[in-house]
This record gives sequence, C-alpha cells and structure tokens, in this order.
Amino acid sequence: MRIFSGIQPTGVLHIGNYLGAVRRWVELQETAECLYCVVDYHALTSEASSPDELGGAWRGLVLDLMACGIDPDRAILFRQSDVPEHTELCWILSCVTSFGDLARMTQFKEKSRGQQFVNVGLFIYPVLQAADILLYLADHVPVGEDQLQHLELARRIARRFNGRYGEVFPEPEPLLGEGARIMSLADPERKMSKSAGPEHVVGLFDPEDEIRAKVRTAVTDTGLTPGQDMSPGVANLFRLLELVAPGEVVEAFKGDHAAGRLMYRDLKASLQEHLLTTLAPLRERRRELAVSVDVEAVLAGGAERARAIARAVIADARQCVGL
Ligand code: TRP
Repeated sequence: MRIFSGIQPTGVLHIGNYLGAVRRWVELQETAECLYCVVDYHALTSEASSPDELGGAWRGLVLDLMACGIDPDRAILFRQSDVPEHTELCWILSCVTSFGDLARMTQFKEKSRGQQFVNVGLFIYPVLQAADILLYLADHVPVGEDQLQHLELARRIARRFNGRYGEVFPEPEPLLGEGARIMSLADPERKMSKSAGPEHVVGLFDPEDEIRAKVRTAVTDTGLTPGQDMSPGVANLFRLLELVAPGEVVEAFKGDHAAGRLMYRDLKASLQEHLLTTLAPLRERRRELAVSVDVEAVLAGGAERARAIARAVIADARQCVGL
C-alpha cells in the first residue's frame, strides 16, 4: 500500500486540517509507505498568492505538520516544486483528460464563478492533482469529502492512460476519515477553510483564549435542517467533540440532547476543554521544533526520496506515450 496526500501552503494549519486529515496521516505512516506533499504549484492557482507569502508559507507548514506527528524519517515529506516531474506528468495526463470533465468540476465552478479573470491553472488543477498521485503509483489517498470528485477524475485519467498506452498507473482509492467534514464555527453551512477568511477557521496554534472565544461564539441557532434533529452548528460541535473527547462524554451530551435538556453552554465548555487538552502537546512540540529543525534539510531529504520514485515512473510514462 502506498499513500499520497497533499496540502496547500496557504495560511495556518487549522483544526479541520488536523482532525479531518493530518491526524490520519500520522497513523498511516505507521503501516504504509506514505508521501506527504506541500503542494505549492497548486497554491499558485490562487489569485491571492504572492511571492512573499508563497516563499515563506512552506516553512511554517512543515513545522506544523511535524508538530502534528508527521515524521520525515518515516513518511516522505516534500515540496511539490522540488520535484518538477509533477508538471511533466501533468502535461502528459492533460492529453488524456477530457475538457468536459474538467468543466464539470465543482471546485472549479465555485472558484471561477463571478471572477473576471479565470486562470487556466485553476482549470487544470485536478490534472496536476492526478499527476501528484499517479507519479508515485499511489493506490490510496486520504482526503476530505470535498476532494472525492477530483479523485474520481484521477481514476478516470489513469484508466484512459492505461487503456490507450498500457497498464502503468493503479487507480487510486480514497481513504475517507471520520472527521472528513468539519464546518466553520462562524457559519456551519460551509466547510472550515482558510480561503473562507480568518473568522471561519480555528488555527491549531492560535492562542488558547482565541480558541475558547471561537468555540464560545460558535453559531448554534440557525434552525433545523429538514430530516435532522440538530441544527448544522450543533451537529458540528458534536462532530468535533467526538474527535477530541472520550465516548462517554459525547454519549452524556447526546442523552441530554435527546431529552431536550442540552445546554449549549455546557457542550461548548466541554469542547473547549477537550480540544485544548488534545492540542496542548502539539503546541509544545511546535515550540521545540521551531528552534531545533532545519526545514530546508528536511525538505531536501524528502525531495531526494520522492524524486527517486518519480524519475522511474516518468521514464516509464514517457516511453509508453512514445517520447
Ligand atoms: N486539492 C487538495 C486540497 O485542496 C490538495 C491536493 C493537491 C491533494 N494534490 C493532492 C490531495 C493529491 C490529495 C492528493 O485539499
């Protein structure tokens, strides 16, 4: 089993990233060969990206990931732009990708809607993502629900390449985690995401009083979704609590909710405590790593290992297509 996943170097790591994805990555590195990639080529598709930000963001992200438990001696932790084979494979794969398929991608439609200038990078973003995965012949990809469509496309691309040129790429399967859908505390109808704005994310390493305040002011009273017995905000608080608190704590609050006597204030207080307890060791490690780790050396080591795999696969792909 070979695992690949990627994360964009934009802004700080937040609890949605950690509880929804990175915590899973840490577990997976115990049992599988894992590649974790800081996808800076992808970050270029954002009109908001600036050279200063992009040039500095990866350092913090690598330290954040290591503080979460990613171990560069086990997993291959590297930066996408250090392995230019990603862009070469992207080109080759773009020639077996349907324009219509790309035009149907929800993320593209959302990000391009209402924009005056839509860059082609945003359009072919999913092809580069497919190249990321296929370049390492990865068979499993831990992602959030919002990436399932991109992964399905990666499978189609692999299938079309293999059908036309011969079996090179396995069709990668998604690995969906339990925390795959953590919503914004300020607007529980939307995913917790850096691109939504600072009020929508709880940074992993935010000061404790800020984390408390964001949980305390979390929106709960938006009314019920039809067919559900909880408002989206309350359901989101329960989802978070399940990820950080022991089962019996969650069960007790669920019992209160079922009996109609749940006090949101108590639910939030419990979430604050369990969340901060979960994050405390990460903060401690983040502080230590900031002074002890040579991030450039970590990435250089990761790139060397990644490139050894990538070179062999790209050579194979080039030969298959006749280059
Ligand atoms: N598109 C992914 C996201 O926004 C990031 C990503 C890029 C990725 N390449 C990948 C994820 C390859 C998994 C595999 O979250």
